[in-house]
Formats: sequence, C-alpha cells, structure tokens
Amino acid sequence: MKSYNIAAYISGSGSNLKSIIDSSLNGNISSKVRLVIANRDVSGLDYPRSLGIDTAVISRDNLSRDEFLDAQLDLLNRHKINLIILAGYLKKLPPEIVRKFNNRILNIHPALLPKFGGKGMHGMNVHRAVIESGEIFSGPTVHFVDEIYDNGRILLQQKIEIGPDETPENLQKRVLEIEHRIYSEAIKILEDREE
Ligand code: GAR
Repeated sequence: MKSYNIAAYISGSGSNLKSIIDSSLNGNISSKVRLVIANRDVSGLDYPRSLGIDTAVISRDNLSRDEFLDAQLDLLNRHKINLIILAGYLKKLPPEIVRKFNNRILNIHPALLPKFGGKGMHGMNVHRAVIESGEIFSGPTVHFVDEIYDNGRILLQQKIEIGPDETPENLQKRVLEIEHRIYSEAIKILEDREE
C-alpha cells in the first residue's frame, strides 16, 4: 500500500480538508497531509495549523507569474509532495504544476460531472443550477485535474436523489456530508492501486 505526502489547496472553510486529515489520524488512509496552501488567510487554515501542519498563503497579488509558481514549487519540493488535493480551491493551478503532477492531482466537485462543471461553477452556484434545471439526481465527484476546469478523468462519484422540495442549501448540506466520506475513499483507491 502506498502512502502519499499530500498538499491540500483550499479557499474556504476547509471541511473537506478536515475530513481527510481526520481520516489520516484515524488510520483510514495511510497518506498524510504535509502542507496546506490557501490563496487567502481563510478559516480552513485553523485546523491544520492547530495540528502543526505547515500552511502557506500564496496569492497571485503582488507576485509575478514566475514568483507565484516558484513559491508553490519550492514548498511542494521541500515537503516531498507526491499528491495534491484541491479541496474547495477556487483558483486555477499553474499549468507547470498540473503537468509536473500528472495523474497526481485530485479535485472534489459538488455535482455529477461532466454536468454542472466549468468556470464559475463552485459552491452554492452549482446546487442552484442543479435544482433550477430540474435534475433528479446530484452528488459529488472526485476527479483527476488536467488543464481544463472540471474536465479530468473521474475517479469516484456518488449519486443521491433530489427531493421534490429540495432547496439548494439542503442539497449542499447533503452533498457535503458525502464529500467528507468519498474524498478519503478516493485517496484510499490511489493508495491501493497497483502500478
Ligand atoms: C465543497 O463543496 C467542494 O465540493 C466545492 O467547494 C466546497 C468546499 O467546501 N468545490 C467546488 O465547487 C469546486 N468547483 P470546504 O472548504 O468546506 O471543503
């Protein structure tokens, strides 16, 4: 079984990140989150900080393109990162990182891709669009990241039925609960995979 040194990228409350850190602490996955990168000083950094996990805020503001890339590469190298997970990260990774970590970057999306993906489709926007379109099912997707938003190969999805009076808020809550389980399951699949 493989064990990865994980870097997590976040932009918000980091509840998916917390679920993965907890899976690692409980021994449900053998990989460890070694580094958390955020684009702003968000509340999701509090939990990893409280556990002594290295965190960094790297924003494109005030940095040249190369400085922005080098700041990330330096940290990823220093922590010997071999798996990146995007957990509610709203920015695009530099293409150099996507290429360097080919098949080693996962993202979680709160809808059944390939539907309801792409630029601007994040968080509550996704759930609103799903309900407005009259879909019968929704559910989270874990997929590999390539250079196009929400486009890479799907690793895991779970479908749930949308109730007749479902609100976007309620759907978000139900989908998020599943996200907290399937993101760790997806990492476990990679750990167990023969290569
Ligand atoms: C999650 O629901 C995740 O699926 C979504 O952002 C939320 C982050 O929550 N990601 C996207 O919409 C990506 N397009 P968290 O910060 O509590 O983990």
